[in-house]
Amino acid sequence: MKFRVTRVIASALAVTLWSVAAMAQTREEPEPRSNLNVEELFSSTCGFCHIDGGREAGRGPQLMDTKRSDDFIRNRIKNGKPGAMPAFGASFSDEDINAIIYYIRHLKPEKG
Ligand code: HEC
Repeated sequence: MKFRVTRVIASALAVTLWSVAAMAQTREEPEPRSNLNVEELFSSTCGFCHIDGGREAGRGPQLMDTKRSDDFIRNRIKNGKPGAMPAFGASFSDEDINAIIYYIRHLKPEKG
């Protein structure tokens, strides 16, 4: 009897662990793996032209709600645009740029 109870608990635990693992796998949009602090990057570097963390246009366009594709954004950050925006290709890894794209896609009007 004692043996069976233990078995039941063990299988319940296994099912729980399995569903946690399944949930982790089906999460749609994983946060990029990068140590880059994008918010800080915007206050120190990008914010010179992309104001308010990218929420407003300055010397550069507003980035929040951009209609540009990921490829376009990646390319602009890497290569810049002569006379408009410096190239940052040497500064960031692909994962860093993923983190920047993730940040831009999740910008909200103002924090509060
Ligand atoms: C010296 C000013 C300047 C700085 C600094 C700057 N940008 Fe830009 N950025 C611009 C300008 C100007 C454009 C528009 C270029 C064009 O005419 O297509 C732009 C365009 C972009 C675009 C494409 C947006 C669109 O709708 O065309 C992205 C994304 C972007 N910048 C991200 C960044 C990031 C990230 C940084 C910091 C790492 C940064 N920028 C730093 C001036 C700047």
